[in-house]
Amino acid sequence: MNRLNHVAIIMDGNGRWGIKYKNSRNAGHKEGLKTVEKIIKETIKKKIKFLTLFAFSTENWKRPKKEINYLFNLLENFLTNRIKDLHKQNIKLKILGSKKFSKKLNKLLSNSEKKTSKNTKLQINLALNYGSKSELIGAFKKIQISKCQINEKNIGRYLQTKNIPDPDLLIRTGNTKRLSNFLLWQLAYSEIFFEKKLWPAFNEKDFHRIIKEYKNIKRNFGRI
Ligand code: FPP
Repeated sequence: MNRLNHVAIIMDGNGRWGIKYKNSRNAGHKEGLKTVEKIIKETIKKKIKFLTLFAFSTENWKRPKKEINYLFNLLENFLTNRIKDLHKQNIKLKILGSKKFSKKLNKLLSNSEKKTSKNTKLQINLALNYGSKSELIGAFKKIQISKCQINEKNIGRYLQTKNIPDPDLLIRTGNTKRLSNFLLWQLAYSEIFFEKKLWPAFNEKDFHRIIKEYKNIKRNFGRI
């Protein structure tokens, strides 16, 4: 049976769920946050050490301002209300992506990372304003400046996911089969599950079903 150390998730389908059930995309984001809470709980129960959540891509800036503001308010409230408890649960928060938000949110994100930096039970990597191509370009530039060799080890060292093992499992909800510029380097050997359900409808049972299936896959890593 495969060990499961790192799960990455593309939480897709909030907008469609919101329109279908509440006639509002933002209502879908609000409901999506409830799924985030559920999955964090289950991740702890399953003793998984890393959970990476794609919450906002570099391409998501193309959305209407009203939706972007709603999403960042949701995040701000989430961190303000929940960081103490996450810390108490020994959870470490790390932000992937570049912190180019309001001064208030940048500070909140940095303080949340600092506060939880020594925690060891579970590391949650929140990808915000994250794009894999730009992360890779950043790494190549740093390698060029430091004049070290371009090789796998050095690229890994200069990525934002330095010290984080590659995901074993990627789940994308929302019935879409693409990677959307998410962890392109790090997902090279991950098992990928495309889930039909929209993110707000995704639940503990779905998570368990996927984990069970993942555990029984024969992972070859190029061997036979
Ligand atoms: C993709 O669905 C989802 C997002 C861009 C935002 C994800 C945000 C959350 C799950 C809630 C907030 C999370 C935190 C951690 C505070 P979509 O809007 O692209 O859905 P669609 O494909 O149906 O339009």
